[in-house]
Amino acid sequence: MEIKRIQNLKNQAISRILEAKTEAELENLRISFLGRKGELTQILKKIPSLPEVKRIEVGKIANEAKRAVEEAISRRSSAISLQPEKLEKEWIDVTAPGKKPPQGHFHLVTYAIREITAIFEKIGYTRVRYPEVEWDWYAFSGLNMPENHPARDEWETIYIEELRSKKYGNVVLTPHTSSGQLREMERRKPPIRMLNIAKCYRRQSDVSHAPMFYQFETLVIDKGINITHLKGTLDYFAQQYFGPDRKTRIRPFHFQFTEPSFEVDVTCIVCGGKGCKVCRGGWLELGGAGMVHPQVLKNEGIDPEKYTGFASGFGVERVLMMKYGIDDIRLLFSGDLRFLNQF
Ligand code: PHE
Repeated sequence: MEIKRIQNLKNQAISRILEAKTEAELENLRISFLGRKGELTQILKKIPSLPEVKRIEVGKIANEAKRAVEEAISRRSSAISLQPEKLEKEWIDVTAPGKKPPQGHFHLVTYAIREITAIFEKIGYTRVRYPEVEWDWYAFSGLNMPENHPARDEWETIYIEELRSKKYGNVVLTPHTSSGQLREMERRKPPIRMLNIAKCYRRQSDVSHAPMFYQFETLVIDKGINITHLKGTLDYFAQQYFGPDRKTRIRPFHFQFTEPSFEVDVTCIVCGGKGCKVCRGGWLELGGAGMVHPQVLKNEGIDPEKYTGFASGFGVERVLMMKYGIDDIRLLFSGDLRFLNQF
């Protein structure tokens, strides 16, 4: 008796489900057959009270009917969602341009380091990097600035007092990349063409100075190297990095580790060398350079009678700021998106 009823109910349910036209109709049918008070549910609820033999037989058929109705509902539901009228409403233009998720980029200093590296690699330099924490010997004494030498004051150095070696002196946070000159001369014999790009630290902070910044240092040592090689390399760099019309000039200066020593200027990026608010009479200062001091070569066991060399040291942020006309170094380290998104 129950079996017949169940089968009828199932057939009835399925045929009505197949006629349903909307999700709402389908939901009503689901409730009336399978809901808490649904017809099929009522039958299933009575099963436990049937005599054992019947219980197994009826239970099997009732559960099967339930499954068949559920399946019919889910099939009908996907059929409804694919109905042409419905699809038309949900039409999407597959040729429309996509939405771009926000995308970050490398830090500007990283780009500058890569660009500078590529420029010097083209003419045979090897990129190196030396420690941020350095012995006094490499930062000063080995560069001809013995302890208590007044020239050291210019570097506003940060000392780490706990550490001291008999041979190398105190430990400092590298104040300039020139320490890499000595390290490179220890690492390999001439000919040397080194590009040392590293973090430097000094006690300073204003629009054009940050306590942590980057320098890039060139060192060339070979037989017969003279000032014309230095000047030619500076012009090559300025034209590659700033543009083909740039010129450089060298002005006499003093460093303990080069002789002669120079400060290097480049024609102003803003006015092209005519003179403007940004520059001093058409020139902007790039950094220091000079011919490696014979004593520095001797300190590393290189014979200054046989070999000569030149070196230069510029700030990475400085050349970057000059190239794009950025007037405050702190912008580079601020993480301000209004600034960063312009690049
Ligand atoms: N190390 C010097 C500075 O930090 C720059 C420099 C490098 C000068 C190489 C001469 C040669 O100011």
